[in-house]
Amino acid sequence: MKDKKTITICMGSSCFSRGNNHNLQIIQDYIKDRDSADIFLSGALCHEQCSRGPVLYLGDTMLSFVDSSEILDLLETYLKE
Ligand code: FES
Repeated sequence: MKDKKTITICMGSSCFSRGNNHNLQIIQDYIKDRDSADIFLSGALCHEQCSRGPVLYLGDTMLSFVDSSEILDLLETYLKE
């Protein structure tokens, strides 16, 4: 069985306004366009990493300063692992 992939996006107000509002939309569209059964997307409250935001987690790995332009590459890489 394939491993479940988890994507956790910080929905705190700082990360949200720094770019996770766009990142969330991109991730949702990405999942919608695919067989998403093995992908779990969830939102998180502030992780107190605001100065490094916007942050999101692919599995247990925290990514900081996530720019909308790189999100698709990050997802592709993670989901292929
Ligand atoms: S709002 Fe995302 S770490 Fe604080």
